[in-house]
Amino acid sequence: MTTLIVGASSGLGRALAAELAGRGHELLLVSSDARDLDAIAADLTLRCAARVHVLALELAHEADPGARLSQVLDALPALDALLLPVGLSRTDDDFRLDAARIGQLLAINLHAPLAIVHALLPRLRANRGVVVLFGSVAAVRGRGRNVVYAGAKRALESLYESLRQRHATRDLRVQLYRLGFLATNLTHGTALPIAATDPARIARIVAARLTRGSAGWYLPRRFALIALIVRCLPWPLYRRMRE
Ligand SMILES: NC(=O)c1ccc[n+]([C@@H]2O[C@H](COP(=O)([O-])OP(=O)(O)OC[C@H]3O[C@@H](n4cnc5c(N)ncnc54)[C@H](OP(=O)(O)O)[C@@H]3O)[C@@H](O)[C@H]2O)c1
Repeated sequence: MTTLIVGASSGLGRALAAELAGRGHELLLVSSDARDLDAIAADLTLRCAARVHVLALELAHEADPGARLSQVLDALPALDALLLPVGLSRTDDDFRLDAARIGQLLAINLHAPLAIVHALLPRLRANRGVVVLFGSVAAVRGRGRNVVYAGAKRALESLYESLRQRHATRDLRVQLYRLGFLATNLTHGTALPIAATDPARIARIVAARLTRGSAGWYLPRRFALIALIVRCLPWPLYRRMRE
């Protein structure tokens, strides 16, 4: 069986690759830079004796990423897990982006997950496989920062529901992680209100739950409470929170 990780070159995706290679998964790793991927594959092959395949895809410009992935998957053992820890956020995503940059954020954070899930669904259903989506606490309630990124992440919540509504758990399992702050490239240099979590810790939890059924979780768990509070804040109060 093959496990596909899209966004595997850094942060959570890289930690997932290491965790799953250690657990004996055969991997197909995807991100934009072939050199990064080759280095990760060489390292995992050496350390874990893992079978690791790579595909460099620039998802900001790839019209049909699912077709490119399908070509590679045709030559590999059957696909039974698709993990999508791919993402990009920008510090100027506060109504200052031009149309091209909005398109880039949507291509990476929304079009790529949607197109890849659509293309690979038949393969995943054939093996009662699992789709793992990675949302964000940024999508809990609209605010004046992370406007496009949060919109894309909110749309992933809808994709999670659509997949579960359409496909019985006996055919396809769907998991969604609503993530709080992680210590990765995505948050590097950003002033955070609370400490960021080591992505290796999150990767261990995600890997351990891969065989479970469909569900959505906040990770770290304390963000479930934070999200509830943010959602319950009266609008006049919430509106004044400009951070
Ligand atoms: N870090 C956080 O605090 C946080 C919080 C909430 C949710 N999340 C979500 O958690 C997931 C993992 O985030 P992370 O923090 O691990 O991010 P990260 O370290 O920035 O890694 C993002 C991954 O996406 C890939 N990627 C980005 N742009 C790409 C492109 N144009 N083409 C192909 N691949 C591309 C990157 O590879 P290349 O750039 O090398 O191509 C990298 O492998 C994401 O979905 C993110 O939105 C993160």
